Amino acid sequence: MKVLCIAQQKGGVCKTTTALSLSAAWALAGSRVLMVDVDPQANLTRNIVDYERLATDISAVYAGKAPLREAIASTATGGLFIVPARTSLNRVENLERSLSTYTTLRREIPKLEGDFDLVVIDTPPSLGLFTVSALLAASHVLVPVQPTFFCQEGLGDLNQTIVEARENNASLASVRYFMTLFDRRTIISQDIAKLLREKLGTSLFSTTIRRNIAIEESQYAQRTIFDYSPKSTGAEDYRALAEEVASWLESD
Ligand SMILES: Nc1ncnc2c1ncn2[C@@H]1O[C@H](COP(=O)(O)OP(=O)(O)O)[C@@H](O)[C@H]1O
Ligand SMILES: [Mg+2]
Repeated sequence: MKVLCIAQQKGGVCKTTTALSLSAAWALAGSRVLMVDVDPQANLTRNIVDYERLATDISAVYAGKAPLREAIASTATGGLFIVPARTSLNRVENLERSLSTYTTLRREIPKLEGDFDLVVIDTPPSLGLFTVSALLAASHVLVPVQPTFFCQEGLGDLNQTIVEARENNASLASVRYFMTLFDRRTIISQDIAKLLREKLGTSLFSTTIRRNIAIEESQYAQRTIFDYSPKSTGAEDYRALAEEVASWLESD
């Protein structure tokens, strides 16, 4: 069972969109996929299930009050499941933090071996408790990068955190990047994309996710991009990225 962590300490760089779209693409292709939302903003959760009607959520798991399995909810897409988050997750970070909170996912996720082919963790825009706990449980890390002037800022800190996580997580294989929110009309996007390609080399996936309004609309409609607008460039790009990422997960 592969455990993919989507991480980047900047907000608004498509972590949540990517967690949902890749997971949906794989589920539609026949895999059993579990998404785990560890962001107290709960955006992934709100994008795919009814937030007002949640039974359990990841807070109870971090607090040691429920096993991960008990917090799993189904979605409208067959084969696609989610462990949701609620904003009360903030309290875990503020009050209940202990050493075992960091290792919660690392202990709980392997118990689902055999039930899912893939686990995809969506993390908050920080390198705090939840992101670290996800990195300690991950086999692979995927980092979205928006080609803007400041885009490389913070990538070094993320890398350092990954290096430290690897010292405690021997199964953390590799880190890959992809470009997102690409606007081909702007010269700056093109220039920065070229620089990123030179710097990141083969660790940068060749698929780039273009800016596409259908993606935002689909989230507003609480549907996946493949369901909302299967012919959009957003759906097309995420299908291509899902293939590239899947072969990386299989080979590494
Ligand atoms: N390819 C895209 N084109 C246009 N808007 C996008 C695209 N991907 C994501 N968005 C929008 O950008 C915003 C931030 O995306 P999100 O996935 O929530 O980022 P993060 O989780 O990194 O904070 C959301 O409103 C989302 O709908
Ligand atoms: Mg997010």
